[in-house]
Amino acid sequence: MQFMETSIFLLFASAFFLVVNSSEPPFNDDVLGLVVLKSGLIDPQKSLSSWNEDDISPCNWVGVKCDHISNRVSELNLDNFSLSGHIGRSILRLQFLEVVSISNNNFSGEINSVFGGFGSLRVLDLSNNGFFGEIPDEIFRQCRVLREISVAGNDLSGLIPYSITSCASLVKVNVSFNRLSGGLPYGIGGLSGLESVDLSGNLFEGEIPRGLESLYNLEYVDFSGNNFSGWLPENIGNCLMLKYVDFSNNGLFGYLPKSLQKLGSCSSLRLRGNLFSGELPDWIGDLKSLTTLDLSMNSFSGQVPDSFGKLQLLNELNLSNNQFVGSLPESLASCYNLMELDVSKNHLTGNFPSWIFELAVKSISLSGNKFVGKIEYPPLTSMAASFQNLRFLDLSSNALSGEIGYVVGNLSKLEYLNMSKNYFEGPVPTSISQLNSTLVLDLSDNRLNGTIPFEIGRAASVMDLRLAHNFFTGEIPLDIQNCSYLTNLDLSWNNLTGPIPSGFADLTYLQNVDLSFNHFTGSLPRVFTNLSHLIVFNVSHNNLEGELPVGGFFNTIPLSSVTGNPSLCGSVVNQSCSAVHPKPIVLNPNAPDSGNSALSSNTRHNRIILSISSLVAIGAAVFIALGVVIVTILNMHARASMMNAAAALAFSGGDDYSPSHGTEANYGKLVMFSGSTDFAAGTQALLNKDCELGRGGFGAVYRAELQDGRFVAIKKLNVSCLIKGEEDFGKEVKTLGSIKHPNLVKLEGYYWTSSLQLLISEYVSGGSLYSHLHERQFETCLSWQHRFNIILEIAKGLAHLHRLKIIHYNMKSSNILIDCSGEAKVGDFGLARLLPTLDRYILSSKIQSAMGYMAPEFACQTVKITEKCDVYGFGVLTLEIVTGKKPVEYMEDDVMVLCDMVRGALEKGRAEECVDSKLIGNFVVEEVIPVIKLGLICASQVPSTRPDMEEVIRILELIHNPSEVQEELE
Ligand SMILES: *[C@@H]1O[C@H](CO)[C@@H](O)[C@H](O)[C@H]1NC(C)=O
Ligand SMILES: *[C@@H]1O[C@H](CO)[C@@H](O)[C@H](O)[C@H]1NC(C)=O
Ligand SMILES: *[C@@H]1O[C@H](CO)[C@@H](O)[C@H](O)[C@H]1NC(C)=O
Repeated sequence: MQFMETSIFLLFASAFFLVVNSSEPPFNDDVLGLVVLKSGLIDPQKSLSSWNEDDISPCNWVGVKCDHISNRVSELNLDNFSLSGHIGRSILRLQFLEVVSISNNNFSGEINSVFGGFGSLRVLDLSNNGFFGEIPDEIFRQCRVLREISVAGNDLSGLIPYSITSCASLVKVNVSFNRLSGGLPYGIGGLSGLESVDLSGNLFEGEIPRGLESLYNLEYVDFSGNNFSGWLPENIGNCLMLKYVDFSNNGLFGYLPKSLQKLGSCSSLRLRGNLFSGELPDWIGDLKSLTTLDLSMNSFSGQVPDSFGKLQLLNELNLSNNQFVGSLPESLASCYNLMELDVSKNHLTGNFPSWIFELAVKSISLSGNKFVGKIEYPPLTSMAASFQNLRFLDLSSNALSGEIGYVVGNLSKLEYLNMSKNYFEGPVPTSISQLNSTLVLDLSDNRLNGTIPFEIGRAASVMDLRLAHNFFTGEIPLDIQNCSYLTNLDLSWNNLTGPIPSGFADLTYLQNVDLSFNHFTGSLPRVFTNLSHLIVFNVSHNNLEGELPVGGFFNTIPLSSVTGNPSLCGSVVNQSCSAVHPKPIVLNPNAPDSGNSALSSNTRHNRIILSISSLVAIGAAVFIALGVVIVTILNMHARASMMNAAAALAFSGGDDYSPSHGTEANYGKLVMFSGSTDFAAGTQALLNKDCELGRGGFGAVYRAELQDGRFVAIKKLNVSCLIKGEEDFGKEVKTLGSIKHPNLVKLEGYYWTSSLQLLISEYVSGGSLYSHLHERQFETCLSWQHRFNIILEIAKGLAHLHRLKIIHYNMKSSNILIDCSGEAKVGDFGLARLLPTLDRYILSSKIQSAMGYMAPEFACQTVKITEKCDVYGFGVLTLEIVTGKKPVEYMEDDVMVLCDMVRGALEKGRAEECVDSKLIGNFVVEEVIPVIKLGLICASQVPSTRPDMEEVIRILELIHNPSEVQEELE
């Protein structure tokens, strides 16, 4: 660096001689000094591009000012240029420099003592850079005329050099926000010209030097945020010019020195966060220029003096966190410029100071005192100043009583209202609807009763609503969903009833929700899983029931947030949902009189449920409640060894279930069409909840491992009582098992007992199409090409089934599985054949879960159900794949039916807008539109207008490769 600077210097020195020789106007040291200075700087924004060595004079360069008589550079103002690099000795060439200001740049390293090399410098501003190390002593060596110095906002450490005391002309010193330490140099009292000293935000310690008392020109003193201790200098009031005094956040103690009384021009006195004590003197009222008085966080005691009323200019008064007693003097009502009043956390007593509403004050905190009595508002009709001005009102933690009062609604500019921890009673006034700017509304810990008024929905800005620990009854008003910014909601410890409104799902900012200790009923809507910002959702100790939502925040919800709801089920509460029906309904197929005694409870209510839920409950309730279903499987060679152990291994059940022991009937028959028949867990296959892959209309599916390491999927049919006998069942399953096609999930075997049937099939590892389309677990989205292939593959699988005269009956995206190479396989086909009769009711109730895929003819007794019902499902599926939307989506108070939506869009020529937003810009329009049309034709209402699957395949191939097919056709 040094070398480069020298060589550049030489370069310019020779240029200089050239210029002189050619007798051009004099080329002075300033140009040279600045150009060399520039060469040491890093100037990413090219701010100094005007600094050009070809210029004769630098006086028009950016940041440069010249003395207009001598034409020599007198000021260098390089603030805010993002400069860094090195300022070297070349700057000394600028012999007439008076001002150097390089604040708000990125300079770092130690401060170069070169700045002390100018005898002419008046102002030096190095603030807001990254300088570190100590302030060099040399910087004050030639400070005869130095008036202002600032090194604020760097990372400097060490002491203030003693040499500063020789700078007799100093007026302004700012060393704030560094890490400077130690005491102040003793001789500072000799700098009698000082007007402004800012030492704030450092680590200075020791006493405040008495010498300060003799700085009669002092106007501005900021020593805040250091570790000064001891008393304030006794005669500090001798500095009669003081306007701004800030000793906040130090360790100062003692009384306020009486000399302060003389500071008649002082407008700001801040002593916050020290250890000052004693009573406030009456003379405080003599500081008539005060606009800000902050005495908070000290140990002042006694009464608040009446003389405060004389401070007519007072704008901000902060007496909080002291030990003031007595009542707040009413004289304050005449401080008509008061904007902020904070007397929180004292021991103030007396009635509520209703005169505060007469002030045009913006912010009032009376919190944490012992005020009593009712709030006396100005009359509703009055034009009280506070009605237009008050933004912040904190009355919390007092002993106030009475009603909140309708008039509160007139404080219509309120942004913060906290009345918590008092004895307020009665209702929440409906006038809260007028508090439409309020962000925080805290009425918790009172004795409020009645219902939460629906008008809360009009306080639509509220982010923080706290009504906990009151006596509220009734339901949560649905209008609360209009409070769309709601982030924190605490309604805990009330007597609220009714359901938790599903409208909460629209309050997308919700983070902390506490509804615990109420009497809420109903279930938690699944849509709550959409609340992506939740941190706390506490619904403990209510009467909620049903399944806890699965997904999102609810997968990790702590037990403590849901405990105390006996009827809530789900894995978090360790309570299986099927067991949570009013009473477990358990059928023992082996019991002699299984018809009647099957019901563990025979209330009418339960009978009605039997028809639907018994299907689910049979063979499931007890076992799943334990978390594990143990199925003892006897295959051909294991049978012999197990015969002896004819123990009750068959089903290790709960108390309600008593299997008949020892009969062979309990041991099922396992038939595998090929390959291994031994499960990894021996002759037992554990159908563990953890291995559950999914649930469908016909039952839950688990993953199990065969002894050869291969995985299979096991579907536990939950339609037991409707299943055909063993022989027919075996025949049907074998038919299905004989089907082989790359786009069909292979059925590998089955297990049969009269009470339990399992279907064993190929395990497809890539998850279902449903989860690829609708669940977030798959980060990467299916590309258009992949989607197209999936559609084609589904069509091929389905066409193969139809060729074999097998109707799928249950087309839906969760039955399409994607294997590890991305190919689609249709699963769960033909299960209806296992039912004794093709009952439309059963079919539709079993397929009910596949809402939106069901062909209309299911609802029509006179129309024969054919393969075309699968074509309908295929059509819906196609639209689902293209749009990424579920066949039926529930919205606020609307239901979107996919087919109708797409058809509508197509008719308006806007079909493209339906395409999955994740594909935007990445699909082939020439393919997408025909595919949408094909989907709609397949999903037409009349079965005969739907194409058959062979035609569908041909159309798809034509769409994909028009020219090729055309060639073929030619
Ligand atoms: C709040 O209500 C007042 C009338 O009560 C109305 O003038 C004002 O526009 C409303 N402000 C907002 C943000 O809705
Ligand atoms: C609310 O409490 C007051 C007494 O504090 C009682 O007079 C009133 O009837 C209660 N209102 C309701 C709706 O419970
Ligand atoms: C709140 O509910 C509890 C329990 O149901 C009841 O004992 C109490 O009286 C109720 N309180 C009010 C104010 O309704």
